[in-house]
Amino acid sequence: MRSLVTGVAGFIGSHLAERLLQENHHVVGVDCFTDYYAKSLKKANVKRLLKEPDFSFVEENLLTARLPELLKDCDYIFHQAAQAGVRSSWGAEFEIYTSLNVLATQRLLEACKGLNIRKFIYASSSSVYGDAQELPLREESILKPVSPYGVTKLAAEQLCYSYWKNYQIPTSSLRYFTVYGPRQRPDMAFHRFMRALLDGEPIEIYGDGKQTRDFTFVSDIVNGNLLAMQSALVGGVFNLGGGSRVVLNDVLETVQQVAGKGAKIVYRDVQRGDVMHTLADTSKAMSELAYRPQVDLSTGLKEQWEWLRETFS
Ligand SMILES: NC(=O)c1ccc[n+]([C@@H]2O[C@H](COP(=O)([O-])OP(=O)(O)OC[C@H]3O[C@@H](n4cnc5c(N)ncnc54)[C@H](O)[C@@H]3O)[C@@H](O)[C@H]2O)c1
Repeated sequence: MRSLVTGVAGFIGSHLAERLLQENHHVVGVDCFTDYYAKSLKKANVKRLLKEPDFSFVEENLLTARLPELLKDCDYIFHQAAQAGVRSSWGAEFEIYTSLNVLATQRLLEACKGLNIRKFIYASSSSVYGDAQELPLREESILKPVSPYGVTKLAAEQLCYSYWKNYQIPTSSLRYFTVYGPRQRPDMAFHRFMRALLDGEPIEIYGDGKQTRDFTFVSDIVNGNLLAMQSALVGGVFNLGGGSRVVLNDVLETVQQVAGKGAKIVYRDVQRGDVMHTLADTSKAMSELAYRPQVDLSTGLKEQWEWLRETFS
């Protein structure tokens, strides 16, 4: 099996590529090291992969890459590359989001026309739902993203559907709910909280901390991708959540216990585009893909803390 993983130097892409190699895939990974966060962290993410004989790395931007070469003999595509993050998607930065999230996806889908791709799996996001009217969020819930980032993730998801409908490219979109674990992006909450604990700085929370999230450990997201790859179902979307709803203020307690340290908590203004609550209804992924999240929050946080301490101490 030959798989292409886009965004392979990122948080999720690097874990996914490692798992595919364990499953005996030959993996081609592409990444252009965008400057959304430090290139040194992304280089560290692919360090282990680069030693693997069945892994090849291509440093190119999907917007300009020679895609027919990248897609040669490719069976599966795992499209993780994107400009992530809700908060910086306003204003002039939006152009980066439309280019990297919408145009790059459209270019990749175009290049798949006429090829024998077995499955094209797109990394979508819970941010396509926006502020929930009703929880848990089901795949049929109203889609009203409240951030420009969410708008681009939804646009790309719709493109995947359009190319399935018109060109029979077998796409499947997975809506990830707040992913955490080793290598988590530095702009994400657990990473910021743990860095503050490590450095003896105050922990900054956006809002009153009463917001709730469905946190999903990265290996569960990777499992969801493999299950979607194996499934005969195409053209659809699936929620991938971690299975429990946690109040941010409460999870802070757990983070401090795991780190064995306390910190002063500072509450900052709510950030535009952040939603108040998320909770995935994963019954569709459970019944149709046999998806079962395995890692509970305190186990997952311990793994993330170990990684963070080793990386930044
Ligand atoms: N982390 C989460 O909680 C979360 C939640 C929902 C959805 N997602 C989605 O999952 C995917 C992976 O997220 P992540 O947290 O690993 O982000 P990340 O920023 O760590 O990884 C994305 C990678 O894609 C690369 N990239 C971006 N545009 C590219 C292009 N045009 N060509 C080549 N490489 C490009 C970046 O350099 C980066 O290494 C993204 O599509 C994101 O929208 C993530």
